[in-house]
Amino acid sequence: MTEATNDRNSVTMIDNRSGKYFTFPILHGTVGPDVVDFRRFYAETGMFSYDPGYMSTGSCSSKITYIDGDKGILRYRGYDIVDLAENCTFLEVCYLLLTGELPNVKEKHDFEDTMRYHSMLHEQFHRFLDGFRRDAHPMAILCGMAGALAAFYQDSIDIHDPTQRMIAQHRLLAKIPTMVAWAYKYSIGQPFQYPRNRLNYAERFLDMMFRTPCDSYEPNPIFAKALDRILVLHADHEQNASTSTVRLTGSSGANPFACIAAGIASLWGPAHGGANEAVLNMLQEIGDPSRVGEYVKKAKDKNDPFRLMGFGHRVYKNYDPRARLMAETCREVLDATGNRDEPLLKIAMELERIALEDDYFIEKKLYPNVDFYSGIVFRAIGLPVAMFTPMFVLARAVGWIAQWKEMIEDPDQKIGRPRQLYLGSPGRPFVPLDKRG
Ligand code: SDX
Repeated sequence: MTEATNDRNSVTMIDNRSGKYFTFPILHGTVGPDVVDFRRFYAETGMFSYDPGYMSTGSCSSKITYIDGDKGILRYRGYDIVDLAENCTFLEVCYLLLTGELPNVKEKHDFEDTMRYHSMLHEQFHRFLDGFRRDAHPMAILCGMAGALAAFYQDSIDIHDPTQRMIAQHRLLAKIPTMVAWAYKYSIGQPFQYPRNRLNYAERFLDMMFRTPCDSYEPNPIFAKALDRILVLHADHEQNASTSTVRLTGSSGANPFACIAAGIASLWGPAHGGANEAVLNMLQEIGDPSRVGEYVKKAKDKNDPFRLMGFGHRVYKNYDPRARLMAETCREVLDATGNRDEPLLKIAMELERIALEDDYFIEKKLYPNVDFYSGIVFRAIGLPVAMFTPMFVLARAVGWIAQWKEMIEDPDQKIGRPRQLYLGSPGRPFVPLDKRG
């Protein structure tokens, strides 16, 4: 306990029950909100802070991604997302997220080669996949595949060995496209296609997704360019649910493959990465722009669990900058495929128009998020709805890896172990079986 202080760099609170003062330091970031350092809160007060859903809690310090939700700003390592999406390839952005700097020409070339020559999966993955039902959701398969990497690549799971950590990071990033494509091929009963080294990252993925042994296949360059930009937009996003899951899993010392498997499992939820699949299903259920008003009404009804999928965000209380770029990419792809009049796009645009004029959405600051348009683009590229969230995995894997790397390399890193507000039974005497009513 401390006396009240006029230290300008702290907060002081009074426990009104005892009149005791408690003072905690304020820590300042480079930009963005300050934080109150509560690390000694329990030791000093005997109480826990209480913040289910972490509405007002900073779980870590990080130098990777910055979001200003009120201004709709997103930056990776200080670079604005629009500049990166319009000027960099996804692998350049991966290099930036992992190292903190954009690559020079040689670094870019070497990193592309590293990704190219680690993209194959152990041949026995064929048999591993055979254990799944063909109708398994690709996300269920990906959860299994990611965790299984630790069984196939045991020479890169020692998290205390920097070389093994780097190899694991490169293997994960290089193999995730192959894993996603093979999960898809398995679900449609087609033979797995091996990565082709002469193609770039996005082209290689499309090639493994859509090539068959019966025909030659060349990835559509417009689709490849659009996909590369979509991967950039989804690459990282500060301490979202799946990234926090990866960090908490990694804090126990679990190997990086297990951590990424945990991240995939968390991203699968419809409130998170599963929203892109839910948006498509919602647009198809609405079926016509004339029915949009009916669904907006449902979304506003407190007694109706229906929510506008692809709308709202914990951090963005302004337009998600990624959603704007996704909408632009969506129009480019639909133009390229001659689907400018895609009915789902018309429904989405009408939904956005009505919602953004409606007081309910204005007051609650609900705007389209990154998932609102992504499904329409994926569908136009030829992906089935079940593959939409796996596409999010493909993109976010680098963010998870970068955040895991930062956590593991933090000398102050400790195992994450939150406490609780206990509302259960107080202590009570045991009741033997023959005495229970
Ligand atoms: C992603 O965190 C990240 O960064 C995630 C992500 C990333 O890149 O990692 O950006 C990716 O997950 C994007 C979000 C995708 N999810 C969806 O599109 C699902 C639909 N959206 C919501 O379920 C919701 O908006 C969340 C989950 C995204 C955010 O929820 P919050 O911050 O917990 O907000 P809330 O649920 O407390 O809602 C606040 C109010 C509530 O009304 P009241 O109880 O205050 O009266 O807004 C309402 C909600 O009912 N509301 C909605 C709504 N979202 C919130 N009402 C209708 N439709 C919606 N979509």
